[in-house]
Amino acid sequence: MNVLTLRPKEVHVWAGSLRACELPDVESNAPLSISEIDRANRFRDELDRDRFLRRRLLLRKILGAYTNTAPGDLEFTVDEYGCPSVTSPIEATDISFSTSHSGDLAIVAVAKQLTVGIDIEQISRKHTIHEINAVTSRFFSSAEYSALAALKPEDFVKGFLSTWTRKEALTKALGRGLSIPLNSFEVSVAPGKAATILGWSSDCADMEGLKLDDLALLEDYVGSLASNHRAVVFYRGYWLET
Ligand SMILES: CC(C)(COP(=O)(O)OP(=O)(O)OC[C@H]1O[C@@H](n2cnc3c(N)ncnc32)[C@H](O)[C@@H]1OP(=O)(O)O)[C@@H](O)C(=O)NCCC(=O)NCCS
Repeated sequence: MNVLTLRPKEVHVWAGSLRACELPDVESNAPLSISEIDRANRFRDELDRDRFLRRRLLLRKILGAYTNTAPGDLEFTVDEYGCPSVTSPIEATDISFSTSHSGDLAIVAVAKQLTVGIDIEQISRKHTIHEINAVTSRFFSSAEYSALAALKPEDFVKGFLSTWTRKEALTKALGRGLSIPLNSFEVSVAPGKAATILGWSSDCADMEGLKLDDLALLEDYVGSLASNHRAVVFYRGYWLET
């Protein structure tokens, strides 16, 4: 296995189809942990279960390749907000990572001595304007809601999903997930224009210093990366051979 290197301020973003990823053998557990297998077994839908198993093995292979560790030797912990980190081996504990998936696409951001949060969404026709309005009026700030309403109709769904991924990337970078009210900070909403943080309330003082970058993904996906420096992003293709 080649050991991959990360320089300071670099973020490596791995993205690709989950179908191209190996499905681990759940009978033998390895290289997944018992808690990962337990989580997998809680999925009712077989496709969701398989995707979960594939992306957990993928994450282990990617992190293992940066730390010269066999995928099954990595140990993770999850904090009270659901934020995961590596606890063992020691060489792997200064790696920060963030993951997201939507449909068949999975994405993993990896960095060293940087905070990272990543989120992607597939632009699908299942999002109706009525549903989007219900979500934005409840979860977005009034300025974001108004800015979205002012977009051209053809930009509306993409604008909503871009805003969503920008906000989720930030909440993941802070490690607090949806415990942060999504309307307690504001981001730019226009798709295809620079992703920026426009402001935050005192609950989100730790947002100071974070930066946003939209990801150049497939045509029918939007995605965003949040990090605590203007990161140099390297896109990496699938998948690692171990
Ligand atoms: C859990 C959550 C952080 C992301 O969930 P999601 O968008 O369904 O799923 P993603 O694939 O993008 O992200 C999942 C990953 O986020 C990471 N994550 C979870 N909680 C996190 C936290 N507090 N901080 C940082 N990362 C976190 C985990 O690595 C998780 O991967 P895992 O499933 O292998 O454990 C949270 O924001 C959530 O529940 N969102 C609801 C999603 C939703 O309603 N989407 C509608 C969009 S239109």
